[in-house]
Amino acid sequence: MPLVTSKEMFEKAYAGGYAIGAFNVNNMEIIQGVVEAAKEEKAPLILQVSAGARKYANTIYLKKMVEAAIEESGLPICLHLDHGDTFEICKECIDNGFTSVMIDASQHSLEENIRITKNVVDYAHDHGVVVEAELGRLAGVEDDVKVSQEDSSYTDPDQVEEFVSRTNVDSLAIAIGTSHGAFKFTGEASLRFDILEEIGKRLPNFPIVLHGASSVPQYLVEQINAYGGNMPGAKGVPEEMLRKAASMAVCKINIDSDIRMAVTATVRKYFAENPGHFDPRQYLGPARQAVKEIVRHKLVNVLGCNNRI
Ligand code: G3H
Ligand code: 13P
Ligand code: ZN
Repeated sequence: MPLVTSKEMFEKAYAGGYAIGAFNVNNMEIIQGVVEAAKEEKAPLILQVSAGARKYANTIYLKKMVEAAIEESGLPICLHLDHGDTFEICKECIDNGFTSVMIDASQHSLEENIRITKNVVDYAHDHGVVVEAELGRLAGVEDDVKVSQEDSSYTDPDQVEEFVSRTNVDSLAIAIGTSHGAFKFTGEASLRFDILEEIGKRLPNFPIVLHGASSVPQYLVEQINAYGGNMPGAKGVPEEMLRKAASMAVCKINIDSDIRMAVTATVRKYFAENPGHFDPRQYLGPARQAVKEIVRHKLVNVLGCNNRI
C-alpha cells in the first residue's frame, strides 16, 4: 500500500466521533513503537515530521523509514509535515512524496495567512496532497520559536468561514487553550470548548486539528524525576478533555511531548539500574516498547481510533 492522504481518515473520524493520532517521529525506534501499536490496534495513522526532526534525521531517511513501516505493517499511513512555516518548505516535502503538509502562517496577519496558505493549497492540490493550516496562535515551544502566553491567541470563530473558503484548505488547526511542550498549565487545566463548538457550527463536516495535545502523564514525570531528571510542574491536557474534543469536530490530535517523555523516562531508569551497559540496543529497545505502550493507550483510551480498519 502506498502512503495515503488524511482525507478518508478524517471523513470517517468525523462521522464516527473519534480522532486520528498524529504522532511526531524523529528516529527509527519511535516510528517502530508507534507503528507496532497502530498495527496491533488496527488504527489508521498520521506520522508527522517537524523542521527539528528533518534537521535531526534528514527528510529522506524519515520518508524511507515510514515507507518501510507501511510495507511491514500494511497500515494506511499518512506522512505529514508538521508546522511548515514557508511555501518553500511545504513544496520541498510535497516534491519528496509527503501526502499532507501543514502551512503554519499563524504568526502573520489574517490576510497574509490566507495568501500564504492559498499558495500552498494550490500547489499541494495540483500534486494530490492535502493541507492543514492554523488560525489563532498556541503558546509554547516549537523548534526554536517560543510563543509566550501573552503572544498566544484563541481562534476567532468569526474568521474561520472566510479563511477556509478563501484558502480551500483541507483541515484547520485551532487554538483553544492547549500549548506545545510539557508545561501547559500552571493552574487548573481548561480548554475553550465553547470556541470549538462554535467553530464546529460555522464549519459543518470540516476536520479540526488540535495541537499541543500531550497529556503529560504523572507517572512519566515521576519516573523522570526519580532518576535524576527535573520536570517539576509539568502538566498536560487531561485525557477526558481530549476525549471530548475527539467526539466533537476534532479529527486529528497531535502528540509529541508524551512520546519524548516515555523515551527519556525509560532510558533514565535503564541506566540507573544498569550503569555498566553501553550497547544502544539494550536501552533503545525498552524505549521503543515504552513508545508502543503509550501510543496504544492513546489509540484505545483517548482517541478511540482502534479497530477502524
Ligand atoms: O509542534 C511542535 C512539535 O512538538 C515538534 O517539536 O520541532 O522540537 O521536533 P520539534
Ligand atoms: P505536544 O507538545 O503537546 O506533544 O504537541 C505536539 C504538537 O502539537 C506537534 O505539532
Ligand atoms: Zn503543533
